[in-house]
Amino acid sequence: MTFKASLTVDRDFDIAPLDRRLFGVFVEHLGRGVYGGIYEPGHPTADELGFRNDVAELTRELGATIVRYPGGNFLSGHDWEDGVGPKAQRPRRLDLAWFSTETNQVGTHEFLHWCRQVGIEPMFGVNLGTRGPDEARRYLEYCNHPGGTALSELRRSHGAEAPLGIRFWCLGNEMDGPWQIGQKTADEYGRIAKETAKLMRWADPGIELAACGSSAYDMPSYGTWEDRVLEHCFEFVDYLSLHSYFVKPPADGSTESFLAQIETNARYIEDTVAIADAVAARKRSAKRLMLSFDEWNVWYRARHGEHLRQAGWPEAPRLLEEVYTLEDALLIGGMLTMFMNHADRLKVACMAQLCNVIAPIMTEPGGPAWRQTIFHPFAQAARWARGRVLRPVIASPGHANARHGELPYLCASVVDDAATGRTAVFLLNRHLSDEMDLSVTLRGLGAERGLVSAEQLHGADLNATNTADAPGRVAPQALNGVAIDGEQLRVTLKPASWNVIVTKARRA
Ligand code: AHR
Repeated sequence: MTFKASLTVDRDFDIAPLDRRLFGVFVEHLGRGVYGGIYEPGHPTADELGFRNDVAELTRELGATIVRYPGGNFLSGHDWEDGVGPKAQRPRRLDLAWFSTETNQVGTHEFLHWCRQVGIEPMFGVNLGTRGPDEARRYLEYCNHPGGTALSELRRSHGAEAPLGIRFWCLGNEMDGPWQIGQKTADEYGRIAKETAKLMRWADPGIELAACGSSAYDMPSYGTWEDRVLEHCFEFVDYLSLHSYFVKPPADGSTESFLAQIETNARYIEDTVAIADAVAARKRSAKRLMLSFDEWNVWYRARHGEHLRQAGWPEAPRLLEEVYTLEDALLIGGMLTMFMNHADRLKVACMAQLCNVIAPIMTEPGGPAWRQTIFHPFAQAARWARGRVLRPVIASPGHANARHGELPYLCASVVDDAATGRTAVFLLNRHLSDEMDLSVTLRGLGAERGLVSAEQLHGADLNATNTADAPGRVAPQALNGVAIDGEQLRVTLKPASWNVIVTKARRA
């Protein structure tokens, strides 16, 4: 069966310029994220510092623009001083976040070496779990102050003459979570976040700061937490964080409900904007706080028992090693369209994480690195989404959802790059059995238009995965039959498929 749908955008109706930081990732000292992931001295592809070049190459291909580091829950018990200076003198520590032993062989400078190798912006965090404003401003001074003070000279004595120039800083991690080392009430955290932000800005006015929102939309603290925290620190921060891990709904394990999490997370963003703007209103402030969705991904299979904790304080155990399916990749694609469509307030997003731990890239020790299914929609979006996000007007049949009402089968976003004349159209067909006969109108974007790229991700088995033995089972294929007629595109989308069409107009 085939059904009809349409998507219309207009050159003059945009949402906002797309911030390329929407294509961020996350590297935490957790499981095999760092050790045995991006870093494996002795691996055949390792560079002079021990970082795997095959993983670096895949990270470049993924197109990630910013990377959050070093946690996560790990951050809340971590002393930055442990990860600088001569490696042989660095302490081994118990990591109470993941019940592992941390060797500190990768720290600030090694990680920045990796960032430079892959061409990615670092986003650092300061520990507001066991420590506070003084540690944070000292770390910032160590990193960013040019020289002439004890801490900046300490950095220089560690071989980094020039300031490290870390611009984006997270003020702690998930501080409302009972699992967090040093959990805080909203008032405690709001006060500390404010004082930390104040000191950090005094030390370096050029930085950008993100305060912790509640650690999930379904936390009992959500809402009140955002309101109280911002009451304290609204004037001092630039972003508020959101975290979301998508699950198979327990009551109804259907793919339809799974994909409806796109709308749930859209509401999460819009509700959070509403709370931030309510705080602004109360304060008679014209400031509009931006959002940083700095942890997001599918995570429900490797989320219990030995996936979370292993006995004996191991080094780099196999934790959170979720194996992703085609169904997951469809949700990731749809989620990315939703992120783009909130580009007016959502400026940063980090897929959690990058390597081995709930990750688009997997590795085996001494062996290969490969792309999980979710790698593909992310890489396609990061490659082609450049410019202004245009407001999509969608006409599509849909299905009923208990939480959201009628949900259209079509999820879409359109990003237009005036500099190149390229328009990228991202499309998810959520109908599980029917093809979509789609008409796209790119009004005012140029009638002389040629096809640059058209790819689809689909398959008969939504549970298909990529593995070390079959790394290419789920991968984009050519999307044939895109017809271009002036500003109009016509295409048939397979059921349960993710599609990316890029065209280029000749513009005066
Ligand atoms: O990404 C895994 C963990 O999930 C992070 O450490 C924490 O912030 C979140 O709860």
